[in-house]
Amino acid sequence: MEQNNLTDKIKWVGKVDDRKVPFHRLILEKGTTYNSYFIDAKKPAVIDTVDIMFGKEYVDHLSKLTNLAELEYIIINHVEPDHAGALPALAAKAPKAVIVCTKLAEDELKKMFRLYNREFLIVKDGDQLSLGDVTLEFIETPYLHTAETMVTYAKEDEILFSCDIFSTHIANIELFNDIAQQEYEEDFKVYYDLIMAPHRPYVRNMLKKIEALPIKMIAPSHGYILRENPQKYIEVYNEKSKLNINNKERKVVIAYATMTGNTGKIAALLSNQLSEAGIKVSVFHLKDANLSEVAERMRESDGILIGSSTRYGDMVGNVEALLKMLKAEEVAGKSAAVFGSYGWSGEAIAHIEDYLVQLGTKVVNQKFLIQNLGVDDAIFPLRVKFLAEEEKEHIEDAGRVFAELLQ
Ligand SMILES: Cc1cc2nc3c(=O)[nH]c(=O)nc-3n(C[C@H](O)[C@H](O)[C@H](O)COP(=O)(O)O)c2cc1C
Ligand SMILES: [Fe+2]
Ligand SMILES: [Fe+2]
Repeated sequence: MEQNNLTDKIKWVGKVDDRKVPFHRLILEKGTTYNSYFIDAKKPAVIDTVDIMFGKEYVDHLSKLTNLAELEYIIINHVEPDHAGALPALAAKAPKAVIVCTKLAEDELKKMFRLYNREFLIVKDGDQLSLGDVTLEFIETPYLHTAETMVTYAKEDEILFSCDIFSTHIANIELFNDIAQQEYEEDFKVYYDLIMAPHRPYVRNMLKKIEALPIKMIAPSHGYILRENPQKYIEVYNEKSKLNINNKERKVVIAYATMTGNTGKIAALLSNQLSEAGIKVSVFHLKDANLSEVAERMRESDGILIGSSTRYGDMVGNVEALLKMLKAEEVAGKSAAVFGSYGWSGEAIAHIEDYLVQLGTKVVNQKFLIQNLGVDDAIFPLRVKFLAEEEKEHIEDAGRVFAELLQ
């Protein structure tokens, strides 16, 4: 097998960039690589491209390896120009190729590269694509590194094309870690600290999603392909993304009101995720609860989740009565967030948030997430249009994010 091959069908077709590369307010002293992969399957495909600077060189090289007119798919895991930069050059030479990416990525790619007349295939978490003799599965990994990011898993070969995740900024010509000529383990960790650590809760979500996958090889977008002991590198992410909790038990109170049960289902899903994260959860359906007792439990808790559906522009049940019983000196500084099912506008959620702000709690909402995690995700407040079942995964993600934010 040729030295650039991962398997007999999958080949590295990237670019080693040994310049000192400017990147996100840093200089990559050791350079980097842009790893692109060509899958010579019955339906040939390319996974990611290279930096925008090397587009022509990349396409010239690829067209010597294969007839680009026959290329069927271009999979774009992440739109940043160090990954998707050569897409316009490649797409121009591969007119038949369908661009495979997430919905968010499609919007960005179309605007960034004016690819309005191309065919896109939008994929979601767990979707599969058969290339005839190779099956790909897609896993959404938002914020690792930006909102639209996904990773691609080659099922038969058990290779995870992990994009920015598990990458290293190092200009390695040997490609594979088992024949590495340079020390890279420290660089692998530094990369985590710089690029991944600000998105720690999303790293936890990603690890959960890939937990059950057999992984023989990790083929990231930068640096060494982890062919030897990939589990070791997953474990580095696992260790580094854990919270240092000083053994103190964390407690969360979930209190909600509902008309037809939807908001109760959200509460149950959140409660499951928090319990799984080792948090002691008390759930109160306010219709049957003693409000003084709920308030008392909230005073003793580390985190508060309050849920209500919306009825004629307002909270339902006795959510407001409960909020009025709480005093700032009792709950200020605690992490708090709001959830609720709604039909078209969901005003209750915003009203509850106003109360929580007044009470001086640390409200986990979009502004908080931007300022503390550098993400513009609106995972909280958790607004669910009608049925909780239809947003089960989103709700579970939110539960894990809240659990991770509790220190
Ligand atoms: C009488 C009534 C009034 C409603 N008013 C609103 C409203 O003002 N704004 C809104 O977004 N949804 C409104 N809805 C939709 C509900 O919030 C929606 O059906 C929600 O899924 C109910 O969740 P629940 O089962 O947790 O109560 C209303 C529903 C009913 C039955
Ligand atoms: Fe990136
Ligand atoms: Fe990158």
